[in-house]
Amino acid sequence: MSSSHPVDDAAISAQVPLHQRPRRLRRTEAIRKMVRETQLSVNDLIYPLFVMEGEDLKVEVASMPGCYRYSLDLLLKEVSEVYELGINAIALFPVVTEEKKDATGTESYNPEGLVQRTVRAIKQAVPEIMVITDVALDPFSSDGHDGIVDENGVILNDPTVEVLVKMAVSQAEAGSDMVAPSDMMDGRIGAIRRGLDAKGYTNVSILAYSAKYASAYYGPFRDALDSAPKFGDKKTYQMDPANALEAIKEIDLDIAEGADIVMVKPALPYLDIIYRVREHTQLPVAAYNVSGEYAMIKAAGQQGWIDEKKVMLETLTSIKRAGADLILTYFAKEVALILR
Ligand code: PBG
Repeated sequence: MSSSHPVDDAAISAQVPLHQRPRRLRRTEAIRKMVRETQLSVNDLIYPLFVMEGEDLKVEVASMPGCYRYSLDLLLKEVSEVYELGINAIALFPVVTEEKKDATGTESYNPEGLVQRTVRAIKQAVPEIMVITDVALDPFSSDGHDGIVDENGVILNDPTVEVLVKMAVSQAEAGSDMVAPSDMMDGRIGAIRRGLDAKGYTNVSILAYSAKYASAYYGPFRDALDSAPKFGDKKTYQMDPANALEAIKEIDLDIAEGADIVMVKPALPYLDIIYRVREHTQLPVAAYNVSGEYAMIKAAGQQGWIDEKKVMLETLTSIKRAGADLILTYFAKEVALILR
């Protein structure tokens, strides 16, 4: 009957008309931009920065290529530069010299301490930028733990919280806009909120490291601060990587105690947690793209095994897509330069 070749006939009959062809919306860059669901913006980014004593110093962290410990004078330049690039917030971490560390972290609430001096200087030089200060004992502790350690090696909760309150108040006095407890002691958000309010710092907000896991991804950060625990690990206070429901419990507690923003940390191995937390709360959700996540991308990029820039953007987009409103990332400056 048909004059055409039997193979052609078979091909034609297999062409059922398709009403949906998703590839139509992927045809050109213009249409892809129009239907893009997740937009990474410089407004999402918080830039962690390391400050150390001294002058005119900028020392690269060996396990974090492209990240530096800055002395205060050079840090101020870096802060104004990133503010010019549109970054709204920095998270400050101090490199504390060994002789200033002790068992109870008293240096952490010294009004003339490195953090306090740095906050005052930034607030003078670049008053508009949000300064977020970390509240935890580890950079100040001779034991390298986030809490006070007793003679049996147990991390004491309530005595630690008392120090954390002093630290947070002292940071607020110096001009910190937002305090970020990263220690995982029980009840610290409520205690810090009460402590700040009692001193009149009702406008200082709390970014709570609520679901912070006992992660091996923090290694390079501990190199940067020389803050690795002198014994044991952090598993009695940071969360078990196997747990998800417990993250929601921690989030609920921190919200009840007065957190303004809740955080999941690390980010990439915990995208499911970010998603669950985003579904669960109306508060802004932050995620910490931690040092080990950064180091892996940098290392593979340096080897020429991956396209570092593309992997960086894909990773940060995935963290935002999972539900993070804010991302703490060492890539912040690089991303700001690209998005500009
Ligand atoms: C300590 C603290 C850590 C990080 C931020 N604050 C390390 C830790 O808990 O041991 C890690 C950040 C990173 O790895 O980028 N309170």
